[in-house]
Amino acid sequence: MSQFAAEPLLDITVRVNGIRRTAAAPARRLLSDFLRHDLGLTGTHVGCEHGVCGACTVLVDGEPARACLMFAVTAQAHDVTTVEGIGHDPADLDPVQQAFVECHALQCGFCTPGFVTTISAYLDEHPDPSADEAREAISGNLCRCTGYQNIVAAVLRAAELRREREGTA
Ligand code: FES
Ligand code: FES
Repeated sequence: MSQFAAEPLLDITVRVNGIRRTAAAPARRLLSDFLRHDLGLTGTHVGCEHGVCGACTVLVDGEPARACLMFAVTAQAHDVTTVEGIGHDPADLDPVQQAFVECHALQCGFCTPGFVTTISAYLDEHPDPSADEAREAISGNLCRCTGYQNIVAAVLRAAELRREREGTA
């Protein structure tokens, strides 16, 4: 008999982007891996797997959370929003995504989903940030390509686009 018994699988159900999704996975499955490998939502990226880089940031009940630091089973009682839930139609981009395009705020784009989710949640609470506040808002996310100036510009532009769309500009 094998020394290693097969790992038991659990049916894990998480409400993701407004839809209840169920997949069988081990209890130790990280939320980041569950989203990517079990649900096929590969917009959530995995960089450091240690909670440092922010690439895996999703929204849990509207608040940014590191999907690499959370087990999928613990997300079961919560609403999860990935970058796909923020917007996935190139003809109808979310203001943050539109701002990233306009401000050239990405190069390789690996970090971008984590920035988009982080900034979206931030602007919900702070609709008219200063440049310093925008810099602070993205300070928990790492980008290896851009030097951040254009990402700060994108935060400010996204805020402007949101206010325009809401008719409060
Ligand atoms: S992959 Fe989760 S913070 Fe880096
Ligand atoms: S655009 Fe390449 S890591 Fe940020």
